[in-house]
Amino acid sequence: MKKILKLNHGLHGTFEIPGDKSISHRSIMLAGLGDTPVEITNFLRGADCLSTISCMRAVGVKIEEFEDKILVTGNGLKGLKEPENILDAGNSGTTVRLLLGLFAPQKFLATFTGDDSLRKRPMGRVIKPLTQMGATIVGRNGNKNLPITVLSPFGKIRGINYEMPVASAQVKSAIILAGLYADEPTEIVEPYPSRNHTEKMLKSFGVKIETSGKVVKVYPPERIFAPEKIVVPGDISSAAYHIVLASILPDSEITIKNVGINETRTGILDVMKKSGAKIEILNERESGGELSADLKIVSSKLHGTEYGGEIIPRLIDEIPALAVAAAFAEGDTIIRDVGELRVKETDRLDAIVREFNKISPGSFEATEDSLIIHGGREKFFAGCKTYADHRMAMSAAIFGAAAEGVEIDDEDCIKISYPNFFDSF
Ligand code: S3P
Repeated sequence: MKKILKLNHGLHGTFEIPGDKSISHRSIMLAGLGDTPVEITNFLRGADCLSTISCMRAVGVKIEEFEDKILVTGNGLKGLKEPENILDAGNSGTTVRLLLGLFAPQKFLATFTGDDSLRKRPMGRVIKPLTQMGATIVGRNGNKNLPITVLSPFGKIRGINYEMPVASAQVKSAIILAGLYADEPTEIVEPYPSRNHTEKMLKSFGVKIETSGKVVKVYPPERIFAPEKIVVPGDISSAAYHIVLASILPDSEITIKNVGINETRTGILDVMKKSGAKIEILNERESGGELSADLKIVSSKLHGTEYGGEIIPRLIDEIPALAVAAAFAEGDTIIRDVGELRVKETDRLDAIVREFNKISPGSFEATEDSLIIHGGREKFFAGCKTYADHRMAMSAAIFGAAAEGVEIDDEDCIKISYPNFFDSF
């Protein structure tokens, strides 16, 4: 239980946010496929990425943790070993979905499980294409849920052409990783482009991978050439809480340093600016194929807006924070095509409506796949449940701070993606 008080002043300061969660996961997985040591800095030591470390160690990758870096030494693309025990992915969808793709072609058996939330989340979306590629995967509840076992494939892994029904970087990445071991190239078409960190990192590892809009084609390599260093940029999904809070709290001016601004992740900047936010992108730079910059945010008067479709995968994890921004905007905000939020760490549409309406009654409504926020309504002190969902916890915290305070039932879940959130907050 944690009580957050109403903030009676604006935010000021310059600070950094932790490393990007998606890139941190991929840095461990891909470095583990090389055969030379890779030094990873600004790695996110959140619980989800630690789950990836423990699963990759279990298949024989050497991973050493130092205060300022992680050192990963793999045994080559074909050097993964059978894990001796069940693999626990904890709360992490990225760990289990990507590793199902990576382990499906291996000549071993691996069984994954996860926590209460992860065991409820849909896994059929990765099992289906991987099975088409020739993998043998069996899971609970008719091949839909964890625990899931992946068996050594009977034959070769086939390159496929796959049209994805949902825009999902986790599904796309699982197919790409399995495609590294296929007998011919694999082509994937998404309904809309999702985050492309796997593609960018693989390119920087020398893998031939062609991308154009919604289409990705991966050519199976003989070998992976891991770089000596990977520098993980700050996580824009963690910056989101500060971007929103500084925008809605009067008299604020903050600079968040070293934020990843890969174009597949910057939907939050686009919609915040569209609703009147003052955000400047400074000192743009590139590292390992990923762009980063410093973001300067000054408080502003927000107005309601409407968005959906193509932009949704570019801000999918930021919607709880954006819902808070919308509650402080003048007029209504309509967010369409967000049915995927129902299968995140919790049903986030349901959680937003249930919990955020306690702070601002009558402000939040949801349909099966959209969210409507009536901005500018009265706000009260309230107790909110997080449903053990890190993004619900941090969004409720900023909502309370900008409203009349809040008490959240479980603050511990923030360790999934932003362990020092309350300190920087
Ligand atoms: C992620 C992809 C997204 C996102 C998740 C991280 C990734 O999930 O919500 O937090 O690292 O690939 P989906 O691929 O299911 O949309």
